Amino acid sequence: MARLRLFLLLLLALPPQPSSLLPWPDTAQGTMAGLILTALEKATLFLEDRLPNINLDGAVGFQVLEVQLQGVQKKWASDPLLQPLSLRAGQLANTLSVLLQKSIFYLRKSDPTYLREFQPSLQPGFWKLPHAWTRTNASLVYPRLEPVDSFSEESSDACLVQLLGTGTDSSQPCRLSNFCRTLMTKTGCSDYSLSHQLLFFLWARMQGCTEGLFHQSQHYIDIFCANMMELNRRAEAVGYTYRTRDLFMENIMFCGMAGFSDFYKLRWLEAILSWQKPQLGCFGKPDAKGELPEDTPHRQGVLRRVRRREKMFTDGCSCHNTATAVAALGGFLYILAEFHPDNGEPHPPAQSPESSYQDGTPNA
Ligand SMILES: *[C@@H]1O[C@H](CO)[C@@H](O)[C@H](O)[C@H]1NC(C)=O
Repeated sequence: MARLRLFLLLLLALPPQPSSLLPWPDTAQGTMAGLILTALEKATLFLEDRLPNINLDGAVGFQVLEVQLQGVQKKWASDPLLQPLSLRAGQLANTLSVLLQKSIFYLRKSDPTYLREFQPSLQPGFWKLPHAWTRTNASLVYPRLEPVDSFSEESSDACLVQLLGTGTDSSQPCRLSNFCRTLMTKTGCSDYSLSHQLLFFLWARMQGCTEGLFHQSQHYIDIFCANMMELNRRAEAVGYTYRTRDLFMENIMFCGMAGFSDFYKLRWLEAILSWQKPQLGCFGKPDAKGELPEDTPHRQGVLRRVRRREKMFTDGCSCHNTATAVAALGGFLYILAEFHPDNGEPHPPAQSPESSYQDGTPNA
């Protein structure tokens, strides 16, 4: 792992490479794509190994990954130089498709209600990759935050179920009660309350909800991801203590899928790759030795809550950590594939995430 870290640090120092000199697979970006694929292949072996015990949130992370890999495979398929990478991405997507279908069988036994309510998010067609990119706007960051834990996971689940139309009252999707409207547009939330507010509007978009409040979905998405970016910067500033990591990766997963390219920072990718357990392929509790100290109780409002649906294996592997990690890494791979210089054409000049992708300096 030390060698990998050094290698990645060296990449940070590289300037963006001229597209014409090297075939893409041999560039720093191409090498990075290979490293990400290797990490994702390992994580998929972990999924396969624990399939009967993976919870729904865990499965959803891998479902997002499957969609990202299909997108990557499609982008790479047309370039003969990228055939090996394209093949790997395609094979991994196929493996995931089979595993996720099997996982539904287990989830039906272990948690049938939760499965019924959230099964749409396990359907391959539900998650849609971003087709336009933007960046967070720091002026939308809240001047102050509410006390941590603004609302419960139960409340936010109930609102998501209304949105999906999967409750027992056989209602239509896109419904919005006054309670949920107030909850999901509340300002000053942080941590998982904030990421679930974002998830609500992200799913509204995936579900095709456009009426009423959902006219302003993008407005809320802009606000929430600006604040999620701020939380991620703080997580980085405190050295990514273990308790901040899950939310850190969830924020990259969700805001990346919402099209915010500045979540894909090379140094954040480096950090996430370094957290994977090399033998098990999962993400979770760091081994006791040589790891960072836990947060002290007064640390600024970054993640303290234990998630209700978290599932921790005895070897320290976490379902939720692994799910958010693979979907974050899949997003990195997707943006790499999206912006690699295809057929010698230059990258889109405006709004290119490449500068942020390349950026190795704080506060860029
Ligand atoms: C950022 O948000 C502020 C406040 O809404 C707005 O005035 C400004 O134009 C935005 N900046 C960009 C670059 O979109």
